[in-house]
Amino acid sequence: MEDILTVSNLTMHFENKDLFDDLSFSLPEGSMTALLGANGTGKTTMVNILLGMQTPTNGSVKFAKGAKVGYVPQFRNIDEDYPLSIRSFIELNAPFFKRRSKHIRRHINHILKDTNLTKIQNTRMGEASGGQKQRAYLAQALLDHPDIIILDEATASLDPMAKEELMTLIQHLNHKHKMTVFFVTHDIPLAKKYMKNYLLLKNKSVQFGKIEDLQEEAIG
Ligand SMILES: Nc1ncnc2c1ncn2[C@@H]1O[C@H](COP(=O)(O)OP(=O)(O)OP(=O)(O)O)[C@@H](O)[C@H]1O
Ligand SMILES: [Mg+2]
Repeated sequence: MEDILTVSNLTMHFENKDLFDDLSFSLPEGSMTALLGANGTGKTTMVNILLGMQTPTNGSVKFAKGAKVGYVPQFRNIDEDYPLSIRSFIELNAPFFKRRSKHIRRHINHILKDTNLTKIQNTRMGEASGGQKQRAYLAQALLDHPDIIILDEATASLDPMAKEELMTLIQHLNHKHKMTVFFVTHDIPLAKKYMKNYLLLKNKSVQFGKIEDLQEEAIG
């Protein structure tokens, strides 16, 4: 299997802190990997570097040619008065001039169905529950047909049911569309249930393996 992402010799030093040194790893196409590590070990910084939003001190990040990257941020509380409907919120990820095209409309209908948002597509984002908002963020990321999806603690503030629902959806996308999944989390049971591999940030370096072999004590 080809690698969709290759990270080589990645180093991130801040003025007052060396976050990590010389990390190298790769993600095979269609793999499901949890990114683990105690608070402050650099998981979000790593995601930002992968997304090109932060520049590493050294090293490189290479995605396979033509690979499209989707991103689901950690749940942020959207203002109750936020005026856009769930559907319009998803549409934001389509180029403005294409939003009303038949093709995009059909694609959005399909995604609404996949993410179980069809019935509430006209509900305002501000009124939606945490789980519904999180599924809307995922739907928005899916609009661009990503080959790899990066989720930074996307389940952190969800109740157990909403967590399972979101993860089942992610699993479905992996099975059906071979979407590669990179899932940042502190929730080890959830990672063990849905992911296949792990990367663990610890002592400024990275360990990896099969998630079933992960010892929980190793994280802290
Ligand atoms: N631009 C910056 N300048 C200096 N320090 C930074 C900068 N960005 C992040 N840090 C520090 O780097 C460390 C890692 O932060 P990061 O948010 O990547 O950790 P994390 O593993 O995602 O933690 P959490 O599990 O709490 O989300 C933190 O101590 C943070 O304060
Ligand atoms: Mg973080």
